[in-house]
Amino acid sequence: MFKGVQLDKISSKHLYIQLYSQLKSLIEKGEVKTHTKLPSIRKFAEELGVNNVTVVNAYNLLAEEEIVYKKVGSGTFVAPKVEFKEDIYLDEEVYIDEDTKFIEERKESGQEGIINFATAAPTPDLFPISPFKRLINKVLERDGGYAFGYQKSQGYLALRKSISKYINRYQIEADVNEIQIISGAQQGIDILAKTFLDYGDTVFVEQPTYPGAISVFKSRNANITEIPINQNGIDLKLLESELKKEKPKFIYLMPNFQNPTGYSYSQEKKERILELAQKYDLLIIEDDCLSDLNYGESNNMALKAMDEDERVIYIKSFSKIFMPGLRLAFLIIPECHFNDILLSKYMSDIFTDGLIQRVLDLYFREELWEKQLNKLKETYQQRYQIMITVLNEYLPQECDFVAPEGGLNIWLELPQGLTANELYDKAFAAGINIAPGTVFYHNQPQTNKVRLSIAAVTEREIKEGIKKLGDVINKELSNSNQDWDNRWMPLV
Ligand SMILES: Cc1ncc(COP(=O)(O)O)c(C=O)c1O
Repeated sequence: MFKGVQLDKISSKHLYIQLYSQLKSLIEKGEVKTHTKLPSIRKFAEELGVNNVTVVNAYNLLAEEEIVYKKVGSGTFVAPKVEFKEDIYLDEEVYIDEDTKFIEERKESGQEGIINFATAAPTPDLFPISPFKRLINKVLERDGGYAFGYQKSQGYLALRKSISKYINRYQIEADVNEIQIISGAQQGIDILAKTFLDYGDTVFVEQPTYPGAISVFKSRNANITEIPINQNGIDLKLLESELKKEKPKFIYLMPNFQNPTGYSYSQEKKERILELAQKYDLLIIEDDCLSDLNYGESNNMALKAMDEDERVIYIKSFSKIFMPGLRLAFLIIPECHFNDILLSKYMSDIFTDGLIQRVLDLYFREELWEKQLNKLKETYQQRYQIMITVLNEYLPQECDFVAPEGGLNIWLELPQGLTANELYDKAFAAGINIAPGTVFYHNQPQTNKVRLSIAAVTEREIKEGIKKLGDVINKELSNSNQDWDNRWMPLV
């Protein structure tokens, strides 16, 4: 059963990684049964024509992921499948956050759990805990206390090199000097605001936009001008007319799978914005959380990849495509802003956690990143397809939405007369949590928009939750029709 294992000695991939991947795949596909003994190290190494160490390293990787177990003196065996042990957390009240506690209490009191379409944060079952555990140990063995000393404010050099390579896949060329490691994209927005904004300065944002950015700009007492976005990007006519009136310190944009709408800018719009930036000496802050989660054919090229005139500061978070708790993101900065931004970072928190930076670096170097991203993308894509199908099936025709080609969010327009805040209350009572669109505006929020996210819901929950949401909306619609009848009754 191990006869099919073949190693490519001229590949750039390490032999032990190749061996580990092939064995893991055989075990995961069930081609090697639980408790089967793996070949002895010496014999397998001879058969494969490799060094014993190659086999030892591959077996160690499998053991660290709990795919195999070792018995002293007997050898290495295929381990039973490990299920996600939720109880580890739930037994210890101290580890539970308020939301989880609330959902558990609902379940215990006989009510069903809340189906959460409100959050765009991935859930713990999607996090790569085993490899992470192994890499933390590896870093600790390799770097010891250095991982806990003061680090460079700009970030760990090896990680910046890995990021420079990773981002190159998206046609963004960034030298290590241009990369600034930050503790989450939220910190990125904050230190950019700190760098560029004084009291009363103006910033332009899309309308609607990410509320975390609005809060930061408000905290700097900035004037915020909102420019509406539609399904192929920001309204360029309005943008240009605002630029003629006033020069903002910068414009904050999300050109791919925008939060909250999921809309992406057309290529033409991206080019035109860069032209406007040149014409009006405009600095663009591009916040790119989700462009990796592309499910269709759309061109999700970043503005930064097209930025020949150094007009764009690029922010990329690892929260949505890896684990939000790492608090890790990076900026790509044009040279003229290096020092000012570095100083703001220094003033904020001096540096980002050194241990986590080192672990993420190894994650890239051991090529685990690609695997994790593919896994996430596959999970989200399946959820997304189900979501679109059930939205079309269960929501009344009076609801409207544009199916985005990627990301985590769908921006739903409610029928006239039904507000998002009303729906929020009714849906919550029915066990569905949604994000009312009003929170994504600075001024004059549109009251009939809702953001639905697929980040924290299973496929079953999507089907069940959207069906329930459809029922709630239909009920509200029929109530409002009755109101209408009653109002007009005396005229008949
Ligand atoms: C557009 C956008 N920018 C930034 C953030 C904050 O990300 P981080 O967790 O990296 O601070 C979020 C989080 O939801 C977001 O949606």
